[in-house]
Amino acid sequence: MDDVKETLVLIKPNAVKRGLTGNIIRWFEQRGLCICAMKMLRIAPELAAKHYAEHIEKPFYGELVEYITSGPVVAMVVSGPEAVEVVRHIVGATNPLEAVPGSIRGKYATSICCNAVHASDSETSAKREIALFFEPDEIVNYGTELWEGE
Ligand code: PPS
Repeated sequence: MDDVKETLVLIKPNAVKRGLTGNIIRWFEQRGLCICAMKMLRIAPELAAKHYAEHIEKPFYGELVEYITSGPVVAMVVSGPEAVEVVRHIVGATNPLEAVPGSIRGKYATSICCNAVHASDSETSAKREIALFFEPDEIVNYGTELWEGE
């Protein structure tokens, strides 16, 4: 299928510490997406700076980097048809006040910074961000038969 894409999801420190990792993974799996790569890590400040480089001029940049480096993170490559848009839809609005209840952030986010997950916002960002967190041989492509349906 031509429209199968990959995107990066980070389960943020508070969500990992609250024991929400399994629940959050389930949202993607139940939607028929595949978890093609996954690792637990503590993000180093250098990696956080690269990951959030586009936000360096924003007033909350320091808080963003401090938070994402403050504890354990689960990084995942999620794949499926139009995965970037589908995952952003499942994740919900950045601000939990605007995230609908039927979204991950609408259910789990506690603030605009501690908003449970990060998800790439475009195909270009997804390619760049996946390369920051994973080597190509760490990504296992599977699932196309699931999406070819009748
Ligand atoms: S998005 O998802 O990129 O379109 O959203 P954006 O509004 O550009 O936010 C990018 C990331 O910045 C975080 N954020 C904030 N952190 C702290 N304080 C304030 N005010 C704030 N506003 C936005 C937000 O959680 C996004 O983090 P990620 O990890 O990308 O979800």
